[in-house]
Amino acid sequence: MPNRSPRLLLISGSLRVESVNRKAIEVAAIAAEKAGAEIDRTDPLDILFPIYNQDDEDKTGIPDKALALRERMKKADGFLIGCPEYNGSITGALKNAIDWASRPHDGEQPLECFRHKTAALIAASGGKLGGIRGLPETRRILSGIGTHVIAFDFALSGANDVFAADGTCTDDNARAGLERIGTSLAEITAALIAGK
Ligand SMILES: Cc1cc2nc3c(=O)[nH]c(=O)nc-3n(C[C@H](O)[C@H](O)[C@H](O)COP(=O)(O)O)c2cc1C
Repeated sequence: MPNRSPRLLLISGSLRVESVNRKAIEVAAIAAEKAGAEIDRTDPLDILFPIYNQDDEDKTGIPDKALALRERMKKADGFLIGCPEYNGSITGALKNAIDWASRPHDGEQPLECFRHKTAALIAASGGKLGGIRGLPETRRILSGIGTHVIAFDFALSGANDVFAADGTCTDDNARAGLERIGTSLAEITAALIAGK
């Protein structure tokens, strides 16, 4: 049984440098670190690849940048994912990254980037619903390719007003909700890799 820290990869479905979803998952990530997790933080553009086209893949294979993300996914035990809601659903950037990561590749097990990994989902939006409508869709996609999405998720409403310039969350309820997700993901992932 592995006796080590759970490794979590932080991915935001937003490409924006000032993304509120990135800020939200960072608050959760700090809580996960306190709960014993090691965090690998992607940069916003680390998930930006050409729109998936099977003709391109047939001609030139999976882009190097997508292969680099896949390597980080394979090393991770779980994912902490920021899920901006675009028109009631997952962002194109996040879905495209998932599509590239799901493709078969020489020397790998099918869906190796996803199977037996955990994930926690957080949405953040300036609106009143906090981007909650994209969460079931993202959960369904990831569950369908073998990732154990934890039962708890969190949608942060009014997200444009709760982060200070240094990224700290100034709203107690919001911070508690985000931290709960990070802590839960760290604890559940630790239990799974320990075989409990
Ligand atoms: C194409 C598009 C569609 C959007 N659709 C929604 C939506 O359905 N619900 C919502 O709450 N916000 C929606 N928004 C607003 C985003 O939630 C807002 O831009 C948010 O800041 C994006 O997350 P980010 O800051 O992490 O990039 C949309 C924004 C864009 C660009």
